[in-house]
Amino acid sequence: MNPLTQLDLSTLRRRRSMKWRHYPDDVLPLWVAEMDTPLAPPIAAALEEAIALGDTGYADIGQLAEAYAAFAKHRFGWWPDPAHCVLAADVAQGVIDVLRVVTEPGDTVLINEPTYPPFRRIIPNADRVLRASPMTRSADGRFRLDLDRLDADLADTAVRAFLLVNPHNPTGTVLTRDELSAVVALCSRHDVRLLSDEIHAPLVYPSEASFVPLLSLPEAQRSIVFVSATKAWNLAGLKASLVIAGAEAVADVRAIPADAAVNAGLLGVLASEAAFRAGGPWLDDLLAGLDHNRTLLDSLLAKHLPGVGYVPPAATFLAWLDCSSLGPDPAARFLEQARVAFTPGPDFGPLGAGFVRLNLATSPEILTEAVARMAKLAEGPTK
Ligand SMILES: Cc1ncc(COP(=O)(O)O)c(C=O)c1O
Repeated sequence: MNPLTQLDLSTLRRRRSMKWRHYPDDVLPLWVAEMDTPLAPPIAAALEEAIALGDTGYADIGQLAEAYAAFAKHRFGWWPDPAHCVLAADVAQGVIDVLRVVTEPGDTVLINEPTYPPFRRIIPNADRVLRASPMTRSADGRFRLDLDRLDADLADTAVRAFLLVNPHNPTGTVLTRDELSAVVALCSRHDVRLLSDEIHAPLVYPSEASFVPLLSLPEAQRSIVFVSATKAWNLAGLKASLVIAGAEAVADVRAIPADAAVNAGLLGVLASEAAFRAGGPWLDDLLAGLDHNRTLLDSLLAKHLPGVGYVPPAATFLAWLDCSSLGPDPAARFLEQARVAFTPGPDFGPLGAGFVRLNLATSPEILTEAVARMAKLAEGPTK
């Protein structure tokens, strides 16, 4: 059963999460990375059991690392050692905790642009300098890693860490084993620590790509990765994620102050464990529904808004739309005049000018309505 067609608009409007509360009720919210799905049944059962027990104390990592290891073995053919995992409240916090161990204040942290917006704020807030290494856009409109540019950026001796996001938000790009291997080689040549945010790994479309975990590469064992069930099973408010060290980085993750794990939520741990252990069939249904939506969006745009550039993503429920032909600041105009909310492209850095990020994790009806609203605006006079 498609999880994206289970909740109607009036039910969704009763939600209290950020996606549904931030804008007034006449706005269709297709912005922040939450999904319009009910909980996967094994997750709901785990949470119900915890509530029945009053099991709402401080978080303990429990079997979360083992559950992720089993999931990764089954899905990606790679078994991370649970002894190399530590609990973190969320990926963003895990990244900061690790940067505090592997870099010094004032060091530069490199990240690709377009850049997941919170990283643009939280890395400088942690007294590190953020530097962007732009991705490149091929003639077919796809965004790819620019290895030559990365090489040049990593050569700056101020750069001490490179935070890869794979699969990539907002472009949905998934790196091949060869690309990953090239990144590892560049980082070791320039003596830069390689970190990878793999939060979107469960959301790779099987027809497009296979996900290669960074730590499955023998040469990447100085790296540290960040994983979580919160995107693929919509658990962001419950707060739990894992930091996983390569075999040569275990001491670094053990150097994270133990207090960091206390910020995780026990319900998040229990829900994530259930997701990794028993959420596979639901995830497959979700991926089929998302696959339908990313193709539907392609045909809707081709029909109603042919000037918008869109390449269906290879992973994630995010669509990165080039709306530069529609005039300046498209997200603001879509919001004010069409009453549909996307994440503005410039939030992802200057390269995002003219783009909006659309969240596909909704019903085909809502997606269709959103494109109809966009199209009406594009037809009308520019205010
Ligand atoms: C690439 C990426 N990293 C991290 C996060 C945030 O994860 P968390 O809520 O675990 O900090 C998101 C959320 O959308 C994301 O897309």
